[in-house]
Amino acid sequence: MAVVDLCGADELRPGERRRYYAEGENIILCSVDGTVAAFRNRCPHQRVELLHEGSFTDGVLTCPMHGWAFDVRTGRSLNASGQLTRFPAEVRNGRVFVTLPDPW
Ligand code: FES
Repeated sequence: MAVVDLCGADELRPGERRRYYAEGENIILCSVDGTVAAFRNRCPHQRVELLHEGSFTDGVLTCPMHGWAFDVRTGRSLNASGQLTRFPAEVRNGRVFVTLPDPW
């Protein structure tokens, strides 16, 4: 595992999502309910890495390809059986730290 200093907490406004790359991972960071949630930026439907281009409203991230929607509070799909891969994330001293798995 690697703990990565991903960005400043103020880079992400409330209700915003943004893509980052770190340690070979394509990450989508979402601001929701006053905190942050980090996921692999890959839709479980067809493994497309474009979630950052989908809509993000009221904590629901929708894949732009075929419309699978995910509640970023849980990572679970609201309209299909998929689940996003979540990475532990925390805000510390004004920075967002994300724990990433070892590469395989
Ligand atoms: S690839 Fe995301 S919904 Fe199909």
